Amino acid sequence: MDKTEKIWLDGKMVKWEDAKVHVLSHALNYGTGVFEGIRVYQTPKGPAVFRLKDHVKRLMDGCKFMGIDLEFAGKKYGFDDIMEAIKQTVRENKNVDYVKPCIFLSGEEVGLNPVGVPVSMAITAIHMGEYLGKGADKGAKIIVSSWHRPDNLCAPAGAKVNGVYATSCLAKREAVTRGASEAVMLNSNGLVGECTGENIFIYRQGKIMTPKPSNSILQGITRNSLVQVARDLGFTVEETDFCRTELTTADEVWMTGTAAEVAPVTYVDERPIGDGTIGPVASKLRARFADIVRGKVPEYDAWLDYVN
Ligand SMILES: Cc1ncc(COP(=O)(O)O)c(C=O)c1O
Repeated sequence: MDKTEKIWLDGKMVKWEDAKVHVLSHALNYGTGVFEGIRVYQTPKGPAVFRLKDHVKRLMDGCKFMGIDLEFAGKKYGFDDIMEAIKQTVRENKNVDYVKPCIFLSGEEVGLNPVGVPVSMAITAIHMGEYLGKGADKGAKIIVSSWHRPDNLCAPAGAKVNGVYATSCLAKREAVTRGASEAVMLNSNGLVGECTGENIFIYRQGKIMTPKPSNSILQGITRNSLVQVARDLGFTVEETDFCRTELTTADEVWMTGTAAEVAPVTYVDERPIGDGTIGPVASKLRARFADIVRGKVPEYDAWLDYVN
C-alpha cells in the first residue's frame, strides 16, 4: 500500500500524519465503527468510483444498524454529503485506486455504553494495487478456516462493522501461516459462507453457484455485479447453499471483492481445483469485469461515478 497526502477527517482535509484519534476512542477499544472499501479506476472519461452509491448506501445502512448518527464535528451529513466527501478525497490525492471511509465512535471515555458517544468520519484514499499480493493473478491458494463466519445471530453479518472483522483477521492469520493467501469461513450450519474480505463462487456441473444471503454473508457489491455480468453473458447463476465437499471438488472456484476484484482460486486446502490452473469461466468473467470497471463496456456505465 502506498500512503497519500491527505485524509478527510470530520469535514476537513488534513495531512496524512495529522489524522489521529485518542487512545480511548470507543471504536478503537470496542470495534464500534462501520467502514467501506471502494475502488477507483482510470477510465477514458477520467477517474471513476465503482458503484459509489451502493457503497454509500451500505455504509449508511450499517450505521443505522449500529445506531450511529451521521453527525461529525457538529454537522449533520446526508447521502449526497458523504458521496461528495469521498469524491473530494479522491480528487485531492494522487494515484488513488482504493478509498476507505470509516464512521466510528470516538470520544475519550471508558465504558461500553455507545449512547451519546461522539461520532467521527475518516476517509482515506490510497494506492493499493493487488490486494492478494504478487502472483495472485495466476490463481490464489486458500484454506477452509477453523473459524466460523459470525452469523446473523451474533453480529449484523450484512454490515461492515469494524469489530466483527476480528474473526476475519484470525482466519486470515491462519491462511497466511499455512502459506495461503485467503481463508474461506463456513457458517454455523457448516455451509460455505465467505472469505475474510471476499465472497466466493464455484462452477460445478455447468452452473455458477454462490452462497445465498441467508448464509450470513456480506452481500458484496462485486458479488452482485458478477452475478449480473455472468447472467448477461448467458451463464446460469444460482444463489444457493453448498458445503465444503462441493467447494473442494468444484470445476472452478473464484472470489469476488472490491479489494481482490475477481480472484480465481487454484487450490483449496492444498488440493488442486480442476487441474490447479485458472479455469475458462473465471478467466472470462475476470476479463469482462476488468473491462467494465475501466469504462470499456458502455452498457454498464451507470456503475461508474466520475470524480471530475
Ligand atoms: C466479509 C466480506 N465479504 C465480502 C466482501 C466483498 O464485498 P464487496 O464486493 O462489496 O467489496 C467484503 C469486502 O467488502 C467483506 O469484507
